[in-house]
Amino acid sequence: MDDVIYLDHAATSAPKPERVAARIARYLQMEGLSAGRGSYRRAVTIGQEIEGGRKKLASLIHAESADRVVFTTSGTEALNLALGCLGQEPGHVIVTSWEHNSVLRPLAAAADRGVTITEVEPGADGRTDPGDVRAAITSETKLICCVHASNVTGVIQPVGEICQLAKERGILSLIDAAQTVGHLPIDVQEMGCSLLAAPCHKGLLAPLGTGFLYLQPGLEDRIPPLQFGGTGTQSEQAVQPAELPYRYESGSRNVPGLIGLAASLEAMSPESIADDAAHQRELTAFCLDRLKGIPGVTVSLPDLPGELRVGVLSLNVEGQDPRVVGTILDEYFQIEVRTGFHCAPQAHQWLGTAELGGTVRISFGSTTSESEIEKLADALQQIAGSF
Ligand code: ALA
Repeated sequence: MDDVIYLDHAATSAPKPERVAARIARYLQMEGLSAGRGSYRRAVTIGQEIEGGRKKLASLIHAESADRVVFTTSGTEALNLALGCLGQEPGHVIVTSWEHNSVLRPLAAAADRGVTITEVEPGADGRTDPGDVRAAITSETKLICCVHASNVTGVIQPVGEICQLAKERGILSLIDAAQTVGHLPIDVQEMGCSLLAAPCHKGLLAPLGTGFLYLQPGLEDRIPPLQFGGTGTQSEQAVQPAELPYRYESGSRNVPGLIGLAASLEAMSPESIADDAAHQRELTAFCLDRLKGIPGVTVSLPDLPGELRVGVLSLNVEGQDPRVVGTILDEYFQIEVRTGFHCAPQAHQWLGTAELGGTVRISFGSTTSESEIEKLADALQQIAGSF
């Protein structure tokens, strides 16, 4: 697959690092056993490896302790778990226009029990104004949901300010860090979020089937488990253990995914994340520069400064359905991108791209090079010029 150019890292990072692939291959071929159950030495060792990954992740996001990081099977599962903080009563939730369906759809389902939602639109620069969020707060507001960076345009939201104002008003805050964890430094205590959810298979470079939820101390009393069952702890009890992280981690674990995560995290540090952030900024600036001169190609939020965006861009080719552009990029140029609405319908309403069928999304990873972006720009120039 050397000749394929993969520019869909916002969906998942690919390929995974050699160290991750090698560890999982060794596990599948030589070990293949469960963790957190048997007390024989190999099972204990694998369990310790997973817990080592949890500790490393907790330290990277500056969680108060490792047990505040709960492993899930995806960012979506982590967000659904977090939304349990709403309980079964009616209440009001504030979201931004950039939220993903993994927040919007569980909230739409909660409308049946009287949960109401206010969407706060961003300013012209794509950034949500914390003042607008403040103005949307009512006496019924229980939760503010804010994506850290949009999976459509890459625009970074002022999450610290939004979490602070939520805290001042005694409201919970839930941050969706799907596009930022591993790509930007994250300090949950400094940010002041109540909850932060993310997949581990994007910026953390782990396999699909991995995600996590960070919970601020004490929140476990307000969030029920999504499922109940064996945790490998307190097995003599008929009821779910209260202690974290096991309260939320029932069933045999995704051992290949979690040891893959641990292997990936071994190579990550605050410095490597800062380097990745700089790399993403350079690639984005380079791509914007190459695209801006192409007649018929329009980039969403082209003037947003580099420090306010991650490596995700959306564009349209004049008069063309984004899906057609994506198919041509794939079939004629071997360039893989995601097209359409990217599970974020409100983002496209706000951008005005809903009636165009969404956008063509370009997203960069640690392995993306400027020469790949040159090839993308050449391909788009040919596509735009041929219609
Ligand atoms: N939410 C992921 C994306 O944006 C899957 O592609």
